[in-house]
Amino acid sequence: MRTDDFQRKAYYHQFMLYSLIKPLLFSLSPEKAHDSVLGLAKLSPTLGKISGFTPDPKLSIKVGSVEWKSSVALAAGLDKNAEALSFFANQGFGAIECGTITLRPQVGNPKPRMWRYPEDKSLRNAMGFPNHGLLEILPRLKTYSDSTPIGANIGKNKDSTPEESIEELSILMETLHDHVNYFVINVSSPNTPGLRALQEKSYLTELFQELKHTRHGKDLYLKIAPDLEERKIIELAHLVHEHKLTGMIATNTTIIPEKGMGGVSGELLTQKSRLVRQTILKEKLPIELIGVGGISSSKELFDFWKDGGKAAQIYTAYVYQGAGVLKNIQKDIQKMLKAHELKTLSDFFNLDLMDRKKILDHYPG
Ligand code: FNR
Repeated sequence: MRTDDFQRKAYYHQFMLYSLIKPLLFSLSPEKAHDSVLGLAKLSPTLGKISGFTPDPKLSIKVGSVEWKSSVALAAGLDKNAEALSFFANQGFGAIECGTITLRPQVGNPKPRMWRYPEDKSLRNAMGFPNHGLLEILPRLKTYSDSTPIGANIGKNKDSTPEESIEELSILMETLHDHVNYFVINVSSPNTPGLRALQEKSYLTELFQELKHTRHGKDLYLKIAPDLEERKIIELAHLVHEHKLTGMIATNTTIIPEKGMGGVSGELLTQKSRLVRQTILKEKLPIELIGVGGISSSKELFDFWKDGGKAAQIYTAYVYQGAGVLKNIQKDIQKMLKAHELKTLSDFFNLDLMDRKKILDHYPG
C-alpha cells in the first residue's frame, strides 16, 4: 500500500473512531466525559497512538529555546495533574502544558463547573484550579520520558494573599525546574477570586523580580486574559519584555456574563482572542507569543500566522474534534509548504512577514 493510501486509511479510522466515541462522551456531563478520557489515557498511554498521527520532523519549530514537535500544543487545563502526558504526546501535540499546578492541593469549585455549547463548538468552565498539588504531581514529571516538551502552568492557591503567592510561585518554579521545559504564570483564570487583579503592573514587577532568582534561565511566559483593555495589554507586553520573560500566552477564557459564571473557550472566544494577539504583535517586541483561544483549524492558525504569530495551543477544538484536528492542521501545513516549495516549517518562518502573508493569502480558509 502506498504511504498516502495508508495515511488516508489511518485518518479515516481515527475520524470514524472519534465520531463513534463522541456521542457517548457527549451523553455524559462534560466533567465526567473529561475524567473518563483522562482515566483511559492514564491507564494506556499507547492508546494515544490510535489516532494514527505520524510526526513530521519537517514541521518542528523552535519556541523560545524549546524545540516543539509541531506548531500546535495542548493548552493548560486538560491534563492539570500531568497524569497522561505520554498519551497526549502520542496523540500528536507538539508540546504539552500541564497544570495549572498550585503549591498545595485544592478541590476547586463545587460541581457542576463545566458546560458545553455544541452549536457554537464552545465550552464554559468555572473549575477553580482543582489539582493534586506540587508534591503529588512532581514524581509524574520526574518519570516522564517522551521527547515531546512539557510546560508547567503554575498558579496561586485560592486562599493565599498576593504576597504569599509570590513565594508559592517561586517554590513551584524552583522545585519543578529540572523536570519541565518551560513555565507559564497563570494570572488570567476568571475562576479564582481576585486572580485577574494580579495582572497589575506593580504586582507583576515584584513577581518577575523575585522569579529571576528561581528561573535559572528557563523559558517563562505570562498567560493573560482576553478581557483586558488594549492599553493594559500593551503595558503587559512591554513589562514582559522589560523583565526578559520569554513571552506571553494569549489568551485564557473570556467572561460572558449572560452565559453565567466562569470563562468561555472555543469558537465564541476566537475573535476576542485574535484581537488581543494582534494588539501584542503590533508592538513588534522581541518576545514569543503563543496563541491560544478559539483556534480550531488551519484557518485560525493561518490567521494567527498572517498577524505575525507562530506557535499555538488548543483545548476546546480537541474536545469537539478529537485528534483529527491535529491531523487536519498538519495536512494543511504540509500542503502549503509543498505548494510553495518550502522544505520545512522553519523555512517558512524564516521568510519575512510580508512574504509569509503573501503565501497565506492563498489560504482564506
Ligand atoms: C481551561 N484553561 C486553563 N488555562 C490555564 O491556564 N489553567 C487551567 O487550569 C485551565 N483550565 C481549563 C479548564 C477547562 C475546562 C478549559 C476549557 C480551559 C484555558 C485553556 O488553557 C485555554 O486558554 C482556553 O480554553 C482557550 O483555548 P481554546 O479552548 O479555545 O482552544
